[in-house]
Amino acid sequence: MPPAASLRPFQLDRSLSERLADEYGTPLYVVSEAHFRDRARQYTGAWTEGDVSYACKANSNLEILRWANGEGLSIDVASRGELEAALRAGVPGGRIRLHGNYKTEEDIRAAMQAGVAEVVADSLLEIAHLARLGWRGHLSLRLALDVHAGSSEKISTSHPDTKFGLSVATGDALAGVRSALDFGLNLIGYHCHVGSMMPVPGPVAEAARSMAEFAKRTQAATGFWPLALNLGGGLAVDYTPEDDPVSVSAFCASIAQAAKDALGKDWPELRIEPGRSIAAPAGLTLYRVGVVKRSSSGRKFVAVDGGMSDNPRPALYGARYTVQSFRSGASEATTVVGRHCESDVLFEDVDLASDVEPGDLLQVLHTGAYNASMSSNYNRFPRPAMVAIDDSGGSRVIERRESLDDLFRREGGEI
Ligand SMILES: Cc1ncc(COP(=O)(O)O)c(C=O)c1O
Repeated sequence: MPPAASLRPFQLDRSLSERLADEYGTPLYVVSEAHFRDRARQYTGAWTEGDVSYACKANSNLEILRWANGEGLSIDVASRGELEAALRAGVPGGRIRLHGNYKTEEDIRAAMQAGVAEVVADSLLEIAHLARLGWRGHLSLRLALDVHAGSSEKISTSHPDTKFGLSVATGDALAGVRSALDFGLNLIGYHCHVGSMMPVPGPVAEAARSMAEFAKRTQAATGFWPLALNLGGGLAVDYTPEDDPVSVSAFCASIAQAAKDALGKDWPELRIEPGRSIAAPAGLTLYRVGVVKRSSSGRKFVAVDGGMSDNPRPALYGARYTVQSFRSGASEATTVVGRHCESDVLFEDVDLASDVEPGDLLQVLHTGAYNASMSSNYNRFPRPAMVAIDDSGGSRVIERRESLDDLFRREGGEI
């Protein structure tokens, strides 16, 4: 596999992109196995404190889960469907952790049947449910620590207004520990995930300190000392040149040190669970340009053959991306739009070659995370295919394009 430095960012040259577009059509998700594995290895190389888990909400394609599993990552799932994906990819239950702010009884029973290693409880009620259902695996408590993080409130998940976790401030977290111990559950520790798209380790380091304080206070009150502390995911990627996240190794070193300093000499196993920073740089999307025009205000629009159904992130929270054409001339500010009936602005005011024409291909970098996994059939658009590129530039379909028939498969049948 090529060295890490040569691997970033994953992008295609004109001839391979044309070959892929001709063979598989557009829009097309293209993922690089080498990039994915390289990012996974950056984590396993940098994190010597304990388990590294892949948060598969980023991209739970079965082949991608096999790569993660093959790199020795455990898998985080946040739904019955993600659990099923991990199992179908061959991940043993003992390497799976179940998350979610509201797990149904069905989720918990499925986890029990699969021998899932750990459930991360998110509420007092859930602890009681786990006890009632006879959960015997490991249990962690997700803590709400009142830490602000992330580039958008929509992906900041441990602030005072969050729906996630047991609040330390309200006393729910301590009550959760007491309750888990009273029920005789196999409580192993605490979890937090303060947010996503964090360019610096500061918020996670702050969360680690806050967890350590909670652990010490709770030990004084209950005698319980954790066997594992999970610091979540959250490292940003460089979607645009303005994003300048620290490296995986700097991120890992900083948060591990913050946790150890705060815990003192008896630190437990430390765990992390990145998603975006492993999967995003390994993927890109190819679109075909269909229309080029100018509005009365002078704005230049380029319409492509996909849109918010294959990448909802710009519409959801103004996410920005790097968009490239394969033309080399002068560039100008261009707004790339999709084909959907909202305004469906995909990439606003990006720098794009001024002579882009209908029929051209565009590649959008860093779409390996939270694109396919958040895609929809809005406007009855079939979802794109996903193609994996191997070391020698060979390609194979790892998720076929949806057909029109796929769109109607659920209608007119029985429940
Ligand atoms: C509990 C949990 N862990 C890990 C992650 C992964 O975060 P990221 O993709 O930012 O690394 C998420 C993302 O939402 C999460 O909710």
